[in-house]
Amino acid sequence: MDFNKSDFGENFIWGAAQASYQTEGAWNTDGKGMSVWDKFSQTKGNIERNENGNTATDFYHKYKEDLLLLKSMNFKHFRFSLSWSRIFPKGTGEINQKGVEFYHKVIDKCLEVEIIPWVTIYHWDHPQILEVQGGWTNRKMVDWFSEYTDFVSKEYGFKVKNWMILNEPLSFTVNGYMLGTMAPGKKGVTNFRKAVHHANLCQAEGGRIVRKNVPVANIGTTHFTSFIEGQTNKDTKAAERMDALINRIFIEPSLGMGYPEDKLHFLKTMKKFMLPGDIEKMKFNFDFIGLQYYFRTVVKKSPFVPFVWAKEVTAKQRGVEANEMNGEVYPEGFYQLMKRFSSYEGVKKIIITENGSCFNDVIDNNKIPDNERIEYFKSHLSEILRIQKENIKIDGYFVWSLTDNFEWEKGFRPRFGLVYVDYNNLKRYIKKSGLWFKELLK
Ligand code: GAL
Repeated sequence: MDFNKSDFGENFIWGAAQASYQTEGAWNTDGKGMSVWDKFSQTKGNIERNENGNTATDFYHKYKEDLLLLKSMNFKHFRFSLSWSRIFPKGTGEINQKGVEFYHKVIDKCLEVEIIPWVTIYHWDHPQILEVQGGWTNRKMVDWFSEYTDFVSKEYGFKVKNWMILNEPLSFTVNGYMLGTMAPGKKGVTNFRKAVHHANLCQAEGGRIVRKNVPVANIGTTHFTSFIEGQTNKDTKAAERMDALINRIFIEPSLGMGYPEDKLHFLKTMKKFMLPGDIEKMKFNFDFIGLQYYFRTVVKKSPFVPFVWAKEVTAKQRGVEANEMNGEVYPEGFYQLMKRFSSYEGVKKIIITENGSCFNDVIDNNKIPDNERIEYFKSHLSEILRIQKENIKIDGYFVWSLTDNFEWEKGFRPRFGLVYVDYNNLKRYIKKSGLWFKELLK
């Protein structure tokens, strides 16, 4: 091993993360309502091999086993999300007590085995019934989301201190409302702009609600990030536009800076969907921000992609090392992004709320020798040590993911877990990378 746990500091937070739709299954059990992801993945043609998360890894029934696995690898923190439609099957109003109970059981089990729970309020699976009314494109989302957030923070707030309001708003607005590749499968720049604005309002409003209900809470929200570079010198401006789109449109409004219109001119038209006072309403004093980093993005200018006028040159096209989802393994980008986000005035703490990679894992004699994943973790954790030497503090690191799970529109093919799941019988096997963490964290 090239480093020790103690190199990261005594209070460094070590955890693993997952999300409701990707793991729970039990999609219509015990009164759960339909979510946009149930609807989207049950519709033919949307997901590779027409897979769906109806059963996923069956975390709904296997949560105790999974938490014990997490514990056995010496992690002390667990990040998971709540399924809105399990708690409010109709989106608002009536509560489903059995759904509420499920998360009490998960939280209680965490506390019993001395694992600290970190709750994400929204990881992309809002109730389908709200989508029929426009979902994130409808400004009423702010009221719906507030009702949900108010309820869950009051209900679980006396047991849970760590809260994240949204998971990667960029991902669900781009993929779900502009490109249509993820739930709810909507397309177009108008849908996108509305969804972005309403997500920004909810991000801050959610923070205020949790603060009111749980005064001692540690409140954050999480951001997708990618290190963006132009392919050649001629592509610098294209890279800046892509960077504004990917890395700036949620963090900057939350810091009171408004939208990054300087580089991405089409954002000036956001005003169409804004009401007086919205710039102020998008602002919230988060205790931490969650950075989620997977790969670098290289772009070139392009007259064919409207609004950003930039196009990705994929890892495959460039012939560089990539994972199963064609993401380039690029630890230097991780360093650059931590550095950059820490330089925003107003960012108080940074926690890496997701980092990891998918490889083609195979079982060999009940073992999964995922050496590439170990190398991935080593190289990325080394960047945290490098930046800490420059006195930039990173407070924690959550691996994506505890177990293999349903990787959205890619189905079960990409495996990100520290624990391998055999989808024929849902048996779990700790991978070599999981054992590597066990040793590191002992
Ligand atoms: C993130 C997302 C996770 C997971 C991960 C791996 O963008 O928050 O749910 O899918 O990517 O691709």
